[in-house]
Amino acid sequence: ENAEQSESETTGEAGEKLVIGFSQVGAESEWRTANTKSIQNAIKDAGHELKFSDAQQKQENQIKAIRSFITQKVDAIVFSPVVETGFETVLQEAKDAGIPVFLADRAVDVEDDSLWVTFLGSDFVEEGRKAGRWLVEEMSDQEGPVNIVELQGTVGSAPAIDRKEGFEEIISGKDKFEIIKSQTGDFTRAKGKEVMEAFLKSEGENIDVLYSHNDDMAIGAIQAIEEYGLKPGEDIKIIGVDAVKGAFEAMAAGKMNVTIECNPLFGPQLVDLIERHFEGEELDKRIAVEESMYTMDQAEELLPTREY
Ligand code: AHR
Repeated sequence: ENAEQSESETTGEAGEKLVIGFSQVGAESEWRTANTKSIQNAIKDAGHELKFSDAQQKQENQIKAIRSFITQKVDAIVFSPVVETGFETVLQEAKDAGIPVFLADRAVDVEDDSLWVTFLGSDFVEEGRKAGRWLVEEMSDQEGPVNIVELQGTVGSAPAIDRKEGFEEIISGKDKFEIIKSQTGDFTRAKGKEVMEAFLKSEGENIDVLYSHNDDMAIGAIQAIEEYGLKPGEDIKIIGVDAVKGAFEAMAAGKMNVTIECNPLFGPQLVDLIERHFEGEELDKRIAVEESMYTMDQAEELLPTREY
């Protein structure tokens, strides 16, 4: 009986209180803070115990956090990987310890997909495609060249890799579109502003469009554009991703043209998946979060209803 008791303590059972370790990327964006709250609240509201670790966008901090969760014998690990590669060893350690890992928001690039239970997150490639399709449509009457500058997310992260890929897939073969500059702004406002300043310095009024892998960098870039003396949203069309409140405010003010939604509020869905796993259910390897896209003309009406 004792053996059974200790078994259930380490593996968890239906309806049981679980100890869940959550290794989050950081607090780099409005999106991220909304995501952190959603997951923290959902874990607590369901009566489980949360051990939280903020990696401050550093992979080594995430590896340490996961090792510490393993040492503490948590029942489950929720993990949003800052970058895609380099997590094989630590995920194998979790597997060897019998602790299931749930990928939240971002994917990992490992060969053995038994190293995690399921991946719940957005389709970042499709978000990039949506951004590209909006631009192609918006510029349909415009003669080329359409000069695009791109603010990439964190180097090596799933959303940066995939949003670039999806966008390029749509504009490739359409000769009038050209990405004239592309650099990382690490998903933060401060770096978005800094890199946009450098783009303006070298390209100035040549720039027709900014494609930013998230809204925070776009908001930083808007400041840089205004300080340079151009009108964001008019002189330079601005495309963001996330659909955070700050983007709706910028769109309502006519300074940003479109934002592709990436929904961070999947905490309850994630906890439901964890509980179903402990009830013995076989989960799909990939579960997508549903999302949409919003333009400038919808901003004022929708702003009061935005939850993040
Ligand atoms: O992984 C999701 C991305 O990470 C969000 O789009 C971005 O804002 C965040 O930092």
